[in-house]
Amino acid sequence: MALENLYVAVIGAGPAGLYGAQTLAKLGARVVILNRDIKPGGLAEYGIYPDKYKMKDGLRAQFEKILASPQIKYLGNVTIGKNGALTIPELFDLGFDAVLVTVGAQGTKWLGLPGEHLRGVYHAKDLVYHYNKLPPFSSKQFEIGQHVVVVGVGNVMMDMAHWLVRELKVDTVTAVARRGPAEVKFDKKEFEIVGANVDVNALDFEIARCEPFMRAVGQDPAQARAEILAGLPRALTPISNTRFLFRFLASPREICGNAAGHANGLEIENNELTRANGDLKAKGLGTFDEIPCDTIIFAIGDAVDEQFGLPLARGAFAVNPAPRFPIDGISYEAFDPQTQTPLEGIFLAGWARQASTGLVGVARKDGTNGATAVSEFLQTLPQPRKFHPDALRETLHTRGITPVTNADVKKLENAEDAEAKARGLPEFKYATNEDMLAVIRGQ
Ligand SMILES: Cc1cc2nc3c(=O)[nH]c(=O)nc-3n(C[C@H](O)[C@H](O)[C@H](O)COP(=O)(O)OP(=O)(O)OC[C@H]3O[C@@H](n4cnc5c(N)ncnc54)[C@H](O)[C@@H]3O)c2cc1C
Ligand SMILES: NC(=O)c1ccc[n+]([C@@H]2O[C@H](COP(=O)([O-])OP(=O)(O)OC[C@H]3O[C@@H](n4cnc5c(N)ncnc54)[C@H](OP(=O)(O)O)[C@@H]3O)[C@@H](O)[C@H]2O)c1
Repeated sequence: MALENLYVAVIGAGPAGLYGAQTLAKLGARVVILNRDIKPGGLAEYGIYPDKYKMKDGLRAQFEKILASPQIKYLGNVTIGKNGALTIPELFDLGFDAVLVTVGAQGTKWLGLPGEHLRGVYHAKDLVYHYNKLPPFSSKQFEIGQHVVVVGVGNVMMDMAHWLVRELKVDTVTAVARRGPAEVKFDKKEFEIVGANVDVNALDFEIARCEPFMRAVGQDPAQARAEILAGLPRALTPISNTRFLFRFLASPREICGNAAGHANGLEIENNELTRANGDLKAKGLGTFDEIPCDTIIFAIGDAVDEQFGLPLARGAFAVNPAPRFPIDGISYEAFDPQTQTPLEGIFLAGWARQASTGLVGVARKDGTNGATAVSEFLQTLPQPRKFHPDALRETLHTRGITPVTNADVKKLENAEDAEAKARGLPEFKYATNEDMLAVIRGQ
């Protein structure tokens, strides 16, 4: 069947959803994007570090072009799911022919340790949303002390370090890794931002401590050191006295607290390295240490929102193990593991399909591939379900939701640009939904 009269609901307007919508529109389908946030962009708007102006503006320009397509309708400020304005079954009742879920990974991944509830313990994503001014995180208070432990050694840890070292200028930042110096996951480019604050003597001491464990699995400590410090020659001039430290081969076991209920230390178990099925794993040695600190931030990746309403398998949205429309051998089809049946017409892409995996370019490719799978499904339909835009608008209206359109977003962005100019800032963002809606409504 030609795709001209078929409607796809794309849930989420991050890179996966936006590029997925573009693909569907190019193939002839009509797309309605339903996005929780007022603004489109997802983590490209609210995750990428705020001062990456060039990258963010470049992506905004691409997103604007996509949303200008007459075949794509953007409805922001509309949350879909079990606790949202509409559920996925209701989208099919309204006549959508397929649904592409690109809601990202909105859950937080925790280790289930004693003391995680203590004050001063946070998940990196909440802080990322806070400093990028995503409501409601923008208005939440976070108590960041002077001695901060960040668990994880990926690029999100580096973004945390960027904020702590160059904005908050705390006394110490200690990045804690369960594996060794050769398994860090951050990029050289991100290291350059905070590299000048690394206490190189302390790093050398730590690598020397890890040496026997690294040699035991055939690793060269000098090579790992060189890779960690590869960005040092191009490191930015430091603007704080923060000491940036690393603690390797350390698995968090408990968060220690004081009588006031505030975190004051992280107990870790020391690890060795072992090889299992080709993977390098951390194995506890049964010895423990405590890293004194006043703040602990988990930068160990995100998880999908378990309340969204799609069935889960191993903590992720379940995908059909025998897909009807695989793309590059990958399944984009939602699945119910309990009944062992595919959820017909529901597709997953981006971080909703694989949480915390890859850069914007990876999400773009996944959104495009997911959309291609959707288009193959659409061609098997005997006839359109007959979506009515008015019915969607009326249903949202009866539920008290006034969606934000692409024209509204433009109005908001123009107002923010004007405000930035007036204040002499490189960028200005309204930090609450109320403020954004007031600007949109001209109040
Ligand atoms: C801290 C951080 C920094 C990063 N920095 C970079 C970088 O510098 N460069 C780079 O290339 N990549 C970076 N990335 C990776 C990049 O942001 C992701 O690869 C990409 O944004 C994932 O896209 P997505 O569309 O799958 O999900 P997201 O970008 O998370 O988009 C999800 C969208 O779904 C919407 N949504 C969520 N729940 C619902 C719901 N229930 N109903 C309706 N809508 C919903 C959200 O509002 C959002 O718009 C970073 C990631 C993080 C976490
Ligand atoms: N500036 C940028 O370009 C930028 C910024 C932010 C994010 N991103 C991208 O976004 C994606 C997600 O980044 P991320 O930093 O969240 O993920 P990541 O790169 O996978 O790093 C996660 C870190 O957490 C550790 N970890 C995971 N589970 C753990 C556990 N149970 N216990 C202890 N440690 C654990 C990992 O250790 P192990 O290796 O041992 O699993 C790893 O060090 C990546 O693709 C990243 O490149 C890019």
